[in-house]
Amino acid sequence: MSQVSEPNHYDDNEVVNSSNNLHFEDILNARLSRRQTVFGGISATTAAVFGTLSLSACAGGQDSGLESKPLALGFSAVAKNRLDVVTVPDGYQVSILHALGDPLHFGDESWKNDGSESADSYQRRIGDGHDGMWYFGLGEDGKFAADRSDRGVLCVNHEYVVQPFGLHPNGLTPGSQRVGSEVDKEIHAHGVSICEVKRSGTNPDMAMVRGSRLNRRITSATPMAFSGPVRGSDLVKTKYSPDGTMTRGTNNNCGNGYTPWGTYLTCEENYLNVIARSAGDDARRSAAEVRALGRYGLPQGRVSPYRWDSAGTDDLFARWNSAVTAETAAGDYRNVINTFGWNVEIDPFDPTSVPVKRSALGRFNHEGAWPAPAVAGQPVIMYSGDDARNEYVYKFVSKALWDPKDIGGGLAAGAKYLDEGTLYVAKFNADGTGVWLELTHGKNGLDASNSLYPFSSQADVVTFVRLAADSLGATKMDRPEWGGVNPLNNEAYMTMTNNSNRVALSATPSGNQLKPDAANPRYYEDTFTSDSGSTRTNRGNVNGHIVRWKEGSSATAFTWDIYLFGAEAAAAADVNLSGLTAVNDFSSPDGLAFDPRGLLWIQTDDGAFTDVTNCMMLAAVPGKVGDGTTVTAAGGTQTRRGALATADNLRRFLVGPKDCEVTGIAFTPDYQTMFVNVQHPGEDGTLANPTSTWPASQAGAAAGRRPRSATVVVTRKGGGPVGTV
Ligand code: FEO
Ligand code: CA
Ligand code: CA
Repeated sequence: MSQVSEPNHYDDNEVVNSSNNLHFEDILNARLSRRQTVFGGISATTAAVFGTLSLSACAGGQDSGLESKPLALGFSAVAKNRLDVVTVPDGYQVSILHALGDPLHFGDESWKNDGSESADSYQRRIGDGHDGMWYFGLGEDGKFAADRSDRGVLCVNHEYVVQPFGLHPNGLTPGSQRVGSEVDKEIHAHGVSICEVKRSGTNPDMAMVRGSRLNRRITSATPMAFSGPVRGSDLVKTKYSPDGTMTRGTNNNCGNGYTPWGTYLTCEENYLNVIARSAGDDARRSAAEVRALGRYGLPQGRVSPYRWDSAGTDDLFARWNSAVTAETAAGDYRNVINTFGWNVEIDPFDPTSVPVKRSALGRFNHEGAWPAPAVAGQPVIMYSGDDARNEYVYKFVSKALWDPKDIGGGLAAGAKYLDEGTLYVAKFNADGTGVWLELTHGKNGLDASNSLYPFSSQADVVTFVRLAADSLGATKMDRPEWGGVNPLNNEAYMTMTNNSNRVALSATPSGNQLKPDAANPRYYEDTFTSDSGSTRTNRGNVNGHIVRWKEGSSATAFTWDIYLFGAEAAAAADVNLSGLTAVNDFSSPDGLAFDPRGLLWIQTDDGAFTDVTNCMMLAAVPGKVGDGTTVTAAGGTQTRRGALATADNLRRFLVGPKDCEVTGIAFTPDYQTMFVNVQHPGEDGTLANPTSTWPASQAGAAAGRRPRSATVVVTRKGGGPVGTV
């Protein structure tokens, strides 16, 4: 593969936020001057902002009324390990639901372990790089049945094509031009798998229903519609859709979302994996266009890691180059970059439905989209994060008020709640308060006179929302990944996976480097030893943290703290700020989800602790904003962290196989069946020298079997709720 630049997972290495928003220095200065008042621990301000410590002793820290039924973890912690299997607690069992290449229907042969499956067949096979997912109960009438646990539809994202490229017979074919059939296969291996799943008898384990009429693949070539502000806009007109109402494909679908009405949201993250722009293209663009393309990481002359556009002049390949080649946008794919970076709504119960890109939620590296619990007569609220270093946290508030009659309403309900509303971006103040800044055309300077971009419409604002957020002074975060809302108290959580771009307070930042701030407070170093014995030093916020916030009395105010800091148990106290021990130490939180009981599940995608343990999933009984105290983080920045972790409120539940990321979580409404995705097992190996043979290795020795991303089903032997007593 040496002649080919290998299409690695585009891992947010390009920092493109060069805005000079207030950040750590300004926040730090403000914080230091107000430290006594804010963090003195005795002032009225402190109590108002962070609450008191009195609830931290309650299991779960729920508000009164729920304390009589405390949540309690009910399993023995799984030890850190580097085995090539999924490890779960004693009394639990694991089965494989589906893996890369498994056929959804009966017309295709089983996966053969040699990459011989045709590109075409991947329109009917499970894709690669399992990631976000969600379970929807399925009723006897074929419609959404929120309370059904024995039969459902599982939607799974396929984020990217995983090394060592077991999709192909011999990995990638070397050469400067990609092979068309390999690109075709990769286009069809991305996207989403939808399949019916079912229990057998009283066993909570579940299997895929091969051949179900609901089984469906959505790929990077599937026709889909635009809705919301960009529909029909000049910004998304292409040769494929000269009127800007349609596009093809969803790509690099990372985390997910779901809606109260029973549809799936798949979220487009690292779409720059596949989009190139020819050298010399700037000369054919306006200055504002060039600035916007730069802010979204696509300078002229950029070669995409996957180089799909190199495979030929056929429209299916050429469309991946976002260059001006014709008189008008209706004659080329200059706007292809603007057709990705959205949240896409899919109706899992209608296999003929056309997925819809819901543009009102903004365009960025969407990790996912997570609703607050829907309340009749109140707006629907969706939180999302932009996963790149120094990017932002967003909130969407629907214009329409929630009507439970819309449950089961499919994409029509989606249009009602997701096409009109108000988008906000978060500013985390040093004093523990926060503000949601409104991203609406004509407000807050978001108009044609704006110096960053001449916003002429809401279509401009949502398409270039990073520039709009820069303009408003949003807070740059340590790579926002997954979020979730605690159903017991409506507080929102979001992982900040790590950030090597932070520098010491005493340093002079260069380029896009940032000093720590209160919401992203740590700077430190950690030594990592590889399997071959070489060592490297990781710097910055190496292990990540989880921010949480509580909405205030107005739509634009909130208070926040840091629920949990990732760390190795042996790390210094100002790194291991949450007091992690052997039963719960972890690094780089990424996936996160609350189940309906209020149990919090945390998954890791790590490259700092993997010399000691494979990536993992933990279960937590979280408290509430303000249940902790003021601390000074490694590097000298002061912040507010939540209550300390203990063996009772945070415990390791699962460890994945070698070289994997544990990502994606779903559960049945009775909590007896849990789905977990394992992505890129064996990614550090090659086809000739594999480091993993998972999932085949789950059943024992499996020499010669290629590693595959897969969905596992975790249940208790004999049944019972997962995670609790
Ligand atoms: Fe695809 Fe943000 O991880
Ligand atoms: Ca992720
Ligand atoms: Ca990640």
